[in-house]
Amino acid sequence: MAKRPKAGGSVSGPDGGRRQLKVRVKTARKRSVSSARWLERQLNDPYVKSAKHEGLRSRAAYKLTEIDDKYRLLKPGKRVIDLGAAPGGWSQIAAERVKSITGDGQVIGIDYLDVEPLPGVTLLKLDFMDETAEEVLKSSLRGGKADIVLSDMAAPTVGHTRTDHLRIMGLAEAAAHFAIDVLAPGGAFLCKVFQGGTERELLDLLKRNFAVVRHVKPPASRSESAELYVLATGFRGEDAGLQG
Ligand SMILES: C[S@@+](CC[C@H](N)C(=O)[O-])C[C@H]1O[C@@H](n2cnc3c(N)ncnc32)[C@H](O)[C@@H]1O
Repeated sequence: MAKRPKAGGSVSGPDGGRRQLKVRVKTARKRSVSSARWLERQLNDPYVKSAKHEGLRSRAAYKLTEIDDKYRLLKPGKRVIDLGAAPGGWSQIAAERVKSITGDGQVIGIDYLDVEPLPGVTLLKLDFMDETAEEVLKSSLRGGKADIVLSDMAAPTVGHTRTDHLRIMGLAEAAAHFAIDVLAPGGAFLCKVFQGGTERELLDLLKRNFAVVRHVKPPASRSESAELYVLATGFRGEDAGLQG
């Protein structure tokens, strides 16, 4: 039986160790080998099954749960901005943990895709790269600066590794500059990057502005995927004058 990734709780793996029967998918005429492979992986993925069972919007919700179980970022009362929020899994976990439904916490999610309304989450349908987006996000914050900026943003992949890498790193860079602008001292930034680590320039920027910078790969992130996260904690604040 799957364990629920509750607010403040921990997750020990979604299949609870039970053996599952493997579903095989044949390639139909209209289904390419790679899409049949994708479908087979989805159907056999215990995280996908568990997310559905637990009413979570995405499999990705487990990645944030696992990272937060270890690093304890999402405490009650914190203000969180979730960049690239659709379909809403990370925002769901954040809302539970910072208690934005019942307490003082706040969660603001942004995506250019529609996200079904979520209790305790302010959702903005907007491209984060749009020049108005940062101001709209800032003006949606209640009572000051943010405590945590999350970014799971990823543009649709084109299958060309170098192009996909560049696009994801462009989004990560924009997210980092925004985090430095919007975070309160002591704040944290968690962002999807690419295997091989964060580019030197971005890493240097984060190291100048945060006390600790590390790369994390939660168990829910598929080992064969190039996905990785950079986690920067202990934002030094703008007074440090280190932003450039
Ligand atoms: C991997 S999904 C996020 C999944 C989400 N963390 C969850 O748990 O449901 C990446 C999202 O980033 C969004 N995205 C990519 N570029 C964006 C941009 N420039 N502005 C807003 N959202 C963006 C995509 O639309 C997509 O929904």
